[in-house]
Amino acid sequence: MRSKIVAGNWKMNKNSEETEDLINELIDKLPTDGNTKIIIAPTFINLASAVDHTEFTNIRVAAQNMHQAENGAYTGEISADMLKSIGVNTVILGHSERRSIFHETDAVISFKVDTALKHDMTVIFCFGEELKDRQNKQHFNIVENQLRDGLFHIDKSAWANIILAYEPVWAIGTGETASPEQAQEMHEFIRETVRKVFGSDIAEDVSILYGGSVKPDNAAAIFSKPDIDGGLIGGAALKADDFVAIVNGI
Ligand code: 13P
Repeated sequence: MRSKIVAGNWKMNKNSEETEDLINELIDKLPTDGNTKIIIAPTFINLASAVDHTEFTNIRVAAQNMHQAENGAYTGEISADMLKSIGVNTVILGHSERRSIFHETDAVISFKVDTALKHDMTVIFCFGEELKDRQNKQHFNIVENQLRDGLFHIDKSAWANIILAYEPVWAIGTGETASPEQAQEMHEFIRETVRKVFGSDIAEDVSILYGGSVKPDNAAAIFSKPDIDGGLIGGAALKADDFVAIVNGI
C-alpha cells in the first residue's frame, strides 16, 4: 500500500551536538500516532548517533548518498555495507546536488540503485528538471529519461524498496515552489510512466514525494493533491517546529 512519507534531507548542516538537539526536539514534538512515515537524513558522520537516538521512536534514519562499489580504494566514500552495519537501511540517491555539483550521471546513479537494492535498502530516488527544461517545455521528457536511465532497469519485485522524489531543480532552496497544480501534473505523469512500464499495482503502490521549498505555509496545499504522497524537505527540515508543521500538514 502507498505510504504517506515526510523526509528531511539535512544536507551538509548540523554538527554532532546540533544533530542531537534537533533529534531530541523532533522526538518531543512529532506526532507519535499518525500513519505518516518520518525519515531524517543527517550527514554521514552523525548517522550512527542518529540511529541510536531514534531507536525507540517512529523516526527512521537515511543516508544522503553512498558509493556504488562494495568496498575498495575509493577515498572518502561510504558503502552500503557500512550504512547497514550501523542500522541505516534507507538511502537518498540521485539528488540534484549530487548530479550537478558532484557530476553523478544517470549511469552512476543506476549502479548505486543496484547496490542499494542488493543490500535490501530502501532507495529514495530523486529526479527533476532544471528551469531551462521547463521553459523549453522539455520537463516531461527529462523526467521520463531520468526514470528510465536511472531506475527502470530494476526488477518488479524491487519496487517495494523504492520511494520516488520529484524535485524540480528550480524549486530547490530558491523559495520558489512548484504550485500544487504543477506538482500534481508532474506526479500524475510520473505515476503513468511507472504504470506503462511496470503495471498498475506498482504505480498505485509507489509513494511519490515532492521536494523543493516545501514550508509550513504551503505543505498542506501540496500534500492535498492525489498523487503527492508526501515531501522531501530541505531547509525547513532544519527547524523542528517547521518540520513538525509540515508533517502535520499531510
Ligand atoms: P529545500 O526544501 O531547501 O528547497 O530543499 C529541497 C531538497 O533538496 C530536499 O532534498
